[in-house]
Amino acid sequence: MRIDVITAFPPLFQGPLSESILKRAQEGRYAEIVVHDLRAYAHDKHRTLDDSPYGGGAGMILKPEPLFECIEKLQSERPYDKVILTTPAGKVYDQNMCKRLSMHDNLIIICGHYKGVDQRVIDALVTMEISIGDYVLTGGELAAAVIIDSVVRLIPGVIGDGESLLTDSFMEGELDCPYYTRPPEFRGMPVPEDLLSGDHKRVNAWRSKAARKLTRDRRPDLMAGQEDEPAHEKKKRK
Ligand code: ADE
Repeated sequence: MRIDVITAFPPLFQGPLSESILKRAQEGRYAEIVVHDLRAYAHDKHRTLDDSPYGGGAGMILKPEPLFECIEKLQSERPYDKVILTTPAGKVYDQNMCKRLSMHDNLIIICGHYKGVDQRVIDALVTMEISIGDYVLTGGELAAAVIIDSVVRLIPGVIGDGESLLTDSFMEGELDCPYYTRPPEFRGMPVPEDLLSGDHKRVNAWRSKAARKLTRDRRPDLMAGQEDEPAHEKKKRK
């Protein structure tokens, strides 16, 4: 998969893209992530990217010309499956959107900034607007980094232990269960006996029950409309 990110602040991506799984995914050629400096597409003396909104009001709006030029250049080089804009006005991001995005070959992500983006960019070029939650960030860069991180880790091969993905929270419509590691007792707090039993059936039964309880307690909205069968039991048959 190739992801082209268009931003007025490329350095914001240095950290997230250069560590851990995202770093390995790029080194292993599972993902090619190209960050484009929008300023390179502003041709006036001051390399202006934003301007005040017609009609007045506070805040600045990203101008259409640099974004059109950058996106049209990319689109002339390869076909893109989606042109995404990160914005609080977008569809609220979830694991299902993430799964679908991870199946594409080429994505563009435009990082919204300042007060917004000239609407003509959205009308003519953007095919998907995504919000990462009901709060306002200073810009779309962190939202884009969240989307990239969550999408890239789903590309087959990126996470060595594919099984681990299957038990992620949200993958089966519920939260993942709690986990413990050594030691079996720490400061008077024991690990649940079923997990120490070495009996896979007992372990799975404990996990299913714990995952369902956690989901019921914390996120009952996820359970609405679901059949009774718990996620860990469904998985066993696959
Ligand atoms: N830009 C500012 N806030 C945002 C949000 N919540 N999601 C995506 N992009 C944003």
